[in-house]
Amino acid sequence: MIVAANLKANHTRSSVKSYLDAVSSFIGENDIKTRAVVFPPATALCPSRGNITVGAQNAWAAENGSFTGEIGSEQLDEFGIRTLLVGHSERRHIMGEGLDTTKRKFDFFAEQEYEIFFCVGEPIEIKEAGFDAVMTYIERQLDGVDLNYSRLILAYEPVWAIGTGKAATSGDILSVHSAIKGFCDKPLLYGGSVKIENAGEILSLEGVDGALVGTASWISDRFCALLNIADNIEKGLGQ
Ligand code: PGA
Repeated sequence: MIVAANLKANHTRSSVKSYLDAVSSFIGENDIKTRAVVFPPATALCPSRGNITVGAQNAWAAENGSFTGEIGSEQLDEFGIRTLLVGHSERRHIMGEGLDTTKRKFDFFAEQEYEIFFCVGEPIEIKEAGFDAVMTYIERQLDGVDLNYSRLILAYEPVWAIGTGKAATSGDILSVHSAIKGFCDKPLLYGGSVKIENAGEILSLEGVDGALVGTASWISDRFCALLNIADNIEKGLGQ
């Protein structure tokens, strides 16, 4: 199981350091086997710890160059970052990143053998159009992405569930995850308003291999609690 914290535009260099210290101690002291991944903002990138993978929320598909406001693989290399989030819905829908850009990023970083957390998920109007529309939308987001790539991790994150406090229902998650698993056997995380109150139920679902968490991960104690819930499920101790 994987539980990943997407810190988005929250935290500073110094608070990320304290955050990672706290999470790392918690994992060590509680013998947590669930894999912890943290995506800090670009200004707070730092090397992974033994028990926490640090990844980047975004990078441009280039080693370096004239890409104002972006970072490339050279800046990731400085910290030994080998894990990248691609296609997050905020990049797609707020920053206007289109299918071509996400695909270009996937191709560039896959070529360099980065671990890629690739996010898919539908906006509310597609959800309202029904399950077939949802799957057509997701398949389009994955069009041209090499689903056999060895370091690919998928995250299903319905746009309407992100940052709203209202997660998808277990039924919604089960049906989308089982459809995705039908054509891709990579680890598949769910994201969208995962929190301490619903993590046990969501992480116990068939076809859910972990969670990508935003809001509920920003305080280290809460992220630790989520890791603990996942770990208990993984160890068969129940929710
Ligand atoms: P949320 O964000 O947990 O705040 O809904 C999830 C995400 O954006 O990955």
